[in-house]
Amino acid sequence: MHENIRTGLILGIESSCDETAAAVVRAGSEALSNIVASQMSLHANYGGVVPELASREHLRNIVPVVREAMAQAGVGFDALDAIAVTEGPGLAGALLVGITYAKALAFGLGKPLIGVNHLEGHIHAVLMEARQRSEVAMEFPLLALVVSGGHTHLYLARQSDQGAWSYRNVGRTVDDAAGEAYDKVAKLLGLGYPGGPWMDALAKRGNPRAVTFNFAQIKARPHREGVSMPNKKAPISASGPGFDFSFSGIKTAVLRYIETHGMKDQVEARRKAIAALGETKPSVEAVAALCDAQTLDLIASFQYAVVGNLLRQTFAAAEAFGARGIVVSGGVAANRELRSRFQAEADRRGLPIAFPSLALSTDNAAMIAAAAWPKFLAGDFAPEELAATPQLRLGQA
Ligand code: KG4
Ligand code: ZN
Repeated sequence: MHENIRTGLILGIESSCDETAAAVVRAGSEALSNIVASQMSLHANYGGVVPELASREHLRNIVPVVREAMAQAGVGFDALDAIAVTEGPGLAGALLVGITYAKALAFGLGKPLIGVNHLEGHIHAVLMEARQRSEVAMEFPLLALVVSGGHTHLYLARQSDQGAWSYRNVGRTVDDAAGEAYDKVAKLLGLGYPGGPWMDALAKRGNPRAVTFNFAQIKARPHREGVSMPNKKAPISASGPGFDFSFSGIKTAVLRYIETHGMKDQVEARRKAIAALGETKPSVEAVAALCDAQTLDLIASFQYAVVGNLLRQTFAAAEAFGARGIVVSGGVAANRELRSRFQAEADRRGLPIAFPSLALSTDNAAMIAAAAWPKFLAGDFAPEELAATPQLRLGQA
């Protein structure tokens, strides 16, 4: 089974959204390089990711990014054991750029190609770094919260004795992702894109108890795959307990608050002042100076509520499924309040918990190469007709 290993080096390629990334990782645990070309400033002009622009940028960036990843790792293409690429979920055109390039490269080099689910990548970013720190591996099952601009998912993850990973999706958002809610609320407040980092930086200047957002009153909508569970600790149904999320209600509540508290003019003034700064990214100090106490309180209260909701659902699921450890990953895992409150709750319960470094919280390719390693060992290679799968799911529901 392991006769394929020569160097253990896998080149990972990621192009599912607005980052073109390439990385070389040895044996799923040592990143020799990790190059990310972000399109953030390009899309910031439009207040969100524009798919057509994203594909064009990926096309422009993919060759130099891969070249740089190889150069920084100090290895030649011949030294690679395999090429790994994100096959979904993500933007169809964006995914296609990475997949087409990876296929051509694998074919030209005569190396195996491995398709990786982007969400599995986020989970493995954390596990890779834990191995890099030589930490004792967590016991199974692991509960993974993947929380980003496109996803808010809870997975129960296990590794078989043969090394293959399996996932069960035990919670998902029925509407907006948590990062999406951050971005939309930031936009409602006239802040820049992406909004998450701004909200994070400003939240600690406000009072988190000033405005109460009640998640219990947010009614979960029927889910595509069946009926979703309420947001509070969910009842046990025939298919087991469900731990779904809903973030569109809090966004509407913020909008209503802005309207009923006469904050619209101030929001508009702030939006104009930030836009006038042009391309230069303003300092947190400068943006905070454009926010009054009421706005900072609203930001702090929003974050307190969102993090609290993520925390309650995650730990309730961990308890219900007997998880032996928790992994949090995805762009929102960069949030400081989320990290400190999750850490404190895990400590209180004596549960091990791990987060990625800030660099590996957001999209990158080291996580794709790391997630590909167990697949490489298992000889789980992609067929020639590997295609972009924008709605790719991870594991069983
Ligand atoms: O994982 P990621 O880079 O891309 C997706 O797959 O979506 O996550 C990006 C998301 C954005 O919504 C961004 O606002 C959010 O993560 N984000 C944050 C923070 N940093 C990034 N949200 C809250 N606090 C942060 N510090
Ligand atoms: Zn992501």
